Amino acid sequence: MTVFSGKNIVVCVTGSIAAFKTAIWVSDLAKEEALVHVIMSRSAEKFITPLTFGALSGNLVHTDMFMGEANNSMAHIDLGRDADIVVIAPASANTIAKLAAGFADNLITTTVLATRAPVLVFPAMNSRMYDNPATVRNIEILKGLGFTVINPGSGMMACKEEGQGRLPDWDLAKECLAAALAKQDLAGRRILVTAGPTREAIDPARFLGNRSSGKMGYALARCAKRRGAQVILVSGPTALSQPHGVERVDVKSAREMAKAVHFHAEDCDVIIKAAAVADYRPETSFTEKVKKEGIDLNLALIQNPDILFELGKKKKQGQVLVGFAAESENLRQEGQRKLDRKNLDLIAVNDISATSSGFEVDTNKVLLIDRSGEQQLPLTTKDGTADLILDRIVSILEGKL
Ligand code: CTP
Repeated sequence: MTVFSGKNIVVCVTGSIAAFKTAIWVSDLAKEEALVHVIMSRSAEKFITPLTFGALSGNLVHTDMFMGEANNSMAHIDLGRDADIVVIAPASANTIAKLAAGFADNLITTTVLATRAPVLVFPAMNSRMYDNPATVRNIEILKGLGFTVINPGSGMMACKEEGQGRLPDWDLAKECLAAALAKQDLAGRRILVTAGPTREAIDPARFLGNRSSGKMGYALARCAKRRGAQVILVSGPTALSQPHGVERVDVKSAREMAKAVHFHAEDCDVIIKAAAVADYRPETSFTEKVKKEGIDLNLALIQNPDILFELGKKKKQGQVLVGFAAESENLRQEGQRKLDRKNLDLIAVNDISATSSGFEVDTNKVLLIDRSGEQQLPLTTKDGTADLILDRIVSILEGKL
C-alpha cells in the first residue's frame, strides 16, 4: 500500500524531448498501483509513441478528443472528472500558453478545464524559451489560477545549452505528486525525526554500531513532509538519500545525536525517535589505530545518555513524544514499560525476530501503544507503516486519543 495505490492519475504528455522521461514516471506509478491514464498531444507523438505509454500504464492511451474509443465521446469530461490528480509532464511552452489562456482545443486542455483535481505542471523546454517573458508571464498566470508549477531543473539540455528547463528527476517529481495526493493534516506542525544507527568510535578506523538502516525514520520524515509538516531529520550514518524538502542534520555518535536533538527539540510539536541509538560506547576511544600485534584487546564500555528519557523529563505541554522499541520477546510488556519510564505519548514496538519487519528490510509490522490502548498495525511497507503511525500522532495532537 502506498500513497499512490488506487489513485486515478491523468498524465498529460506534450511536445518536448523530455517526453521519454515521462515513460519512467508512468512505469513507476503503475508499479505503485496507481491507475494511470495517459493523454498525449500531437507533438508528443513525434517524440515517443503511444504504444510505450500504453504498455507501461496498462491502459489505452488517449491521443484525440474525437477518437471515440469505446464509443466515449465524453473522454475530455470523464478523464478530468475521475482524476485524483492531473499531471502535465513535460509541459511545453505551447501547452502552458494555451492553459494560461483557457484554450479547449485538444484532449489535454479540455481535460484540464474540466477537472476539479489538483493540476501539477512540469515545464520542460529550452532555457531561452523558459526565460522568455511570455513564458514567465504564462507560468505566473497558471500559478494564479491555482495550478502547482514545479520549477524545471538546471544543467545540460538536449540542445547542448546549459540552463534551466530540464524535466526534474522522478524522485523529486514523485514527492510533488505524493504531497498533492496526501492529506495536509500536519500542515503548520514542526516535527523532529531521528533515524539510523549511531557509531561509537573505538579508534579512527573502527566503531561499534548496529544493524539499523534508517529506512523507518526516513519513511516517517518523508511521509510527514508530504502531509505538510516542517521536518528536521537527525540522522546517523545511512546509505539513504535525503528526503526532498526535509532539513537533515548528520551525526555519528549517540552524544552527537543527543546534542542535535536537544538543540531542536524545544520548538517541535512532535518528536519521533526512530533511531537505534547505541546504549554503550567504549570508555576510551583511541586517537591512533590500534595494532593487533601482541595484544588481546578488552573493551570497557560505558553507557550513553538516553536521549528519549531526557526528552521525556522535559516534555512541554502539548508536545507529542514518540519512541520506538526494538524487541525480540515480550513486545507488549516491554513497550508499555518504555512508554511509562520515558514519559512517552506513543511507542512503536518492532519485532526484530521476524524476517519481514525491523532492521534493514523495506516492510514493517509494529505494535502501537499509547495512553488509550494499543493497535497492531499490519505488515506493510515502511512508508505505509509511517503513515499509520502519523495517523495516530495526528489523533493525539487533535486530542482524540
Ligand atoms: N533511545 C534513546 N537513547 C538511547 C537509547 C535509546 O533515545 N541511548 C531511544 C530510541 O531511539 C528508541 C527508544 O529509546 O526510540 C527505545 O530504544 P531501545 O533500544 O528499544 O530501548 P532502551 O531504552 O535502550 O532499552 P533496552 O535496550 O534495554 O531494551
